[in-house]
Amino acid sequence: MRMVDLIEKKRDGHELSTEEINFIISGYTDGTIPDYQVSALTMAIVFRGMSERERADLTMAMVESGDQINLSQIEGIKVDKHSTGGVGDTTTLVLGPLVAAVGVPVAKMSGRGLGHTGGTIDKLESVEGFHVEIDNDEFIQLVNKNKIAVIGQSGNLTPADKKLYALRDVTATVESIPLIASSIMSKKIAAGADAIVLDVKTGAGAFMKTLDDSRELAHAMVRIGNNVGRRTMAVISDMSQPLGFAIGNALEVKEAIDTLKGEGPADLTELCLTLGSHMVYLAERANSLPEARTMLEKAMEDGSALEKLKVFLSSQGGDGSIVDHPEKLPQAKFIVELEAKEDGYVAEIVADEVGTAAMLLGAGRVTKESVIDLAVGLVLRKKIGDHVKKGDSLVTIYSNFENIDEVKQKLYDNIKVTSQKVTAPTLIHEEITE
Ligand code: URA
Ligand code: CA
Repeated sequence: MRMVDLIEKKRDGHELSTEEINFIISGYTDGTIPDYQVSALTMAIVFRGMSERERADLTMAMVESGDQINLSQIEGIKVDKHSTGGVGDTTTLVLGPLVAAVGVPVAKMSGRGLGHTGGTIDKLESVEGFHVEIDNDEFIQLVNKNKIAVIGQSGNLTPADKKLYALRDVTATVESIPLIASSIMSKKIAAGADAIVLDVKTGAGAFMKTLDDSRELAHAMVRIGNNVGRRTMAVISDMSQPLGFAIGNALEVKEAIDTLKGEGPADLTELCLTLGSHMVYLAERANSLPEARTMLEKAMEDGSALEKLKVFLSSQGGDGSIVDHPEKLPQAKFIVELEAKEDGYVAEIVADEVGTAAMLLGAGRVTKESVIDLAVGLVLRKKIGDHVKKGDSLVTIYSNFENIDEVKQKLYDNIKVTSQKVTAPTLIHEEITE
């Protein structure tokens, strides 16, 4: 087989066979096919697309390019959740203990964040002593015992995707639904999920800015999952403004504790109950979505979800008492209110810019090597549609340095207040199961 013929075939709009896709991905992973040929191919895919069969084959070829996590020793159906990324997205911290509390095994492999705020591991590390450096046997034992454990990312998961994503990033070939969908799905499948719940974000703060694009990506991923034998569904949720109130590592842990107690922000709570219900249903712990939701609401009310967080944290070396004493989490030196300059209604909270403001405080990484400040970040006091009076706090800023003029300016520039009444955006746009 010659790579040049395969590029030509795709360029002319033909379908690549399973063998051809496997040849490309294994050759690219082992270095026998060079970047320039693969970049020509990915550009052809941007213009010509891929059939459903090609997408499934590409996904599985990338899964097979490296290690695959074997979770077969964990009892029950392992359901993983994936979010396409947003600002202040605290859902993973809530959903893990919440669904574990009703018996769904959560065997989570997580990473650190780059950009807006930390990743799930960074957030969890705001709890003194908590660590994810556990070996595979311990990980499996913990999930069987507690129904939840988090382990750091294995180094050799989907190496083909790592190489391909880096190449696409510099060759203007990220924007392709088949390539994005197979990239995301390959990582979930290699991490051992039996079933997958996808949270596809839409809006200004999301990777997909329009509902049409988000819907297309969601359908593509759901089809790939179901075509390769992993039951998959997607929720399309709003990211035109940050989710919940808190943006920042320790602040989001506190927000997760509140939400597990049933005292969290309405949008975060609703999204967690929706995603959680689908996880419980796919894990076959409930016979219907309403039954699953009732189970989760009960776990919030009777304290079992919160207790699960405590057990989870302390089983991995963390100080579980922070659940009852969140004041033990890292605290910022300066707490400053951003006051509204006029009366009106909040019309816009530009999610990615507000995320960047949190990063300026030190809550996120600029480069992989940056050290993040776990204590700092933002807590929104108003959301889109809320009425504000001049002098009301729009945002509480948690900082470890005194001069935050740049952060305040960025927030004023990106939180728009108007005189007309504004309706709050729809939180959940669609649930896609086919
Ligand atoms: N995120 C991924 O993991 N892959 C893509 O291709 C795009 C976004
Ligand atoms: Ca949040």
